[in-house]
Amino acid sequence: TTFPPGKRPPIMEGIPFVGGLIKFARGPWKLLEEGYGTCGEVFTVPVAHKRVTFLIGPEVSPHFFKAGDEEMSQSEVYDFNVPTFGKGVVFDVDQKIRTEQFRMFTEALTKNRLKAYVPAFNREAEEFFSKWGDEGIVDFKDVFSQLVTLTAARTLLGREVREQLFEQVADLLHGLDEGMVPLSVFFPYAPIPVHFKRDRCRKQLSEIFAKIIRNRRDSGRREEDVLQQFIDAKYQNVLGGRALTEEEITGLLIAVLFAGQHTSSITTAWSGLFMAANKKHWDKAVDEQRAIIAKYGSDLSFEALSDMEVLHRNISEALRIHPPLLLVMRYAKKPFAVTTSTGKSYVVPKGDVVAASPNFSHMLPQCFKDPQAYDPDRFAPPREEQNKPYAFIGFGAGRHACIGQNFAYLQIKSIWSVLLRNFEFELLDPVPAADYESMVIGPKACRVKYTRRKL
Ligand code: HEM
Repeated sequence: TTFPPGKRPPIMEGIPFVGGLIKFARGPWKLLEEGYGTCGEVFTVPVAHKRVTFLIGPEVSPHFFKAGDEEMSQSEVYDFNVPTFGKGVVFDVDQKIRTEQFRMFTEALTKNRLKAYVPAFNREAEEFFSKWGDEGIVDFKDVFSQLVTLTAARTLLGREVREQLFEQVADLLHGLDEGMVPLSVFFPYAPIPVHFKRDRCRKQLSEIFAKIIRNRRDSGRREEDVLQQFIDAKYQNVLGGRALTEEEITGLLIAVLFAGQHTSSITTAWSGLFMAANKKHWDKAVDEQRAIIAKYGSDLSFEALSDMEVLHRNISEALRIHPPLLLVMRYAKKPFAVTTSTGKSYVVPKGDVVAASPNFSHMLPQCFKDPQAYDPDRFAPPREEQNKPYAFIGFGAGRHACIGQNFAYLQIKSIWSVLLRNFEFELLDPVPAADYESMVIGPKACRVKYTRRKL
């Protein structure tokens, strides 16, 4: 390479070959805390047979988010998903095909498509909460996990799954979930029981979806869901412009579910926990619902949901304090230079795994004033702290920013609109800590009391 040689970032000491892996497998949070504490914004951790270089904060992360796939590549670091998503999709295919598959995701989630999913969001939320009594005690994490699974079934997987096969498919997807443990990131084929179960579940999902897809194709029946979008999609510049196979469609559906389901349900839970714990912000969100009802009527249309700025900011702030994805990662195909905010320069060598952490970036006081405080108004003009480039990265940023962001906001707003209009909440425990040991980071248990009322 013609790249000027330079000093590589500091390597965290005291982590032996296997030790790094054990720490990582127990959840990478502690490891990050240690590294950032001793080395600052850029540091390298040897983890098993790999070197992971962390880039913490907006000064050192632009290259990570902006560079093309020929420099900062995804497939080498995310290919642990291949046994879950399946062959022939996303991280199992070359860049050109992956780009086209990501285009298909994007086209399934355009504004017009989202408008078609909104009635399903509302219907699922209304049905779900109509089953609650006048008062009761719930745990938001469980509640929203159930509701978002139902909504995902209807809007992504389709009517057949939602109405006829829900229990069976939910069980199989749960098996895939359980097969994704921190160890799987480095050894996705390790012969452990949860991986064997994952493979059995994946195979059964293929069989179920193949039948559904064949049925739709044969009958010509169409539905308003992401499954239909994938059935209709065609490659443009690769693979002779053919349609997706049944196996590819199944894989893309699973990939979208893995990207969107736990992330959304966890953010729904944090949003509610923080609003319920901060009366001032709860009251403002309730007032906004009254104003929206006065303006649009009681119907939760796409336009009404889009107009809910107060609720939007509460969701953003929950996501800032607790982004569900602790790490986003790439593989350095070429060396690159970074300079820290204190003027130290390093060269990250080719072959490093490179990682940015939304959780750490969001807690930097140079990005967010008083970062520990719950303060949704930081997102409002004139402060708009989220506009500092690469500061607010809960949905990633740049070239591979989240494709489902608008879908997620609309779904979470639909759920919280229904709740703000029909219930009061009281936390029976303090706002819980995050469970950093899981793959997608959510709240630990917290009992919440609900009481029905009507706006
Ligand atoms: C990418 C977070 C909801 C689909 C990402 C990334 C993050 C993220 C951090 C970037 C990953 C990276 O840079 O490597 C979230 C959060 C969500 C959410 C916090 C909810 C609150 C959704 C939903 C969908 C979705 C609902 C689909 C319906 C995707 C896809 C990508 C992605 C397809 C890959 C984009 C790419 O690599 O080019 N998301 N996501 N996400 N997300 Fe989301």
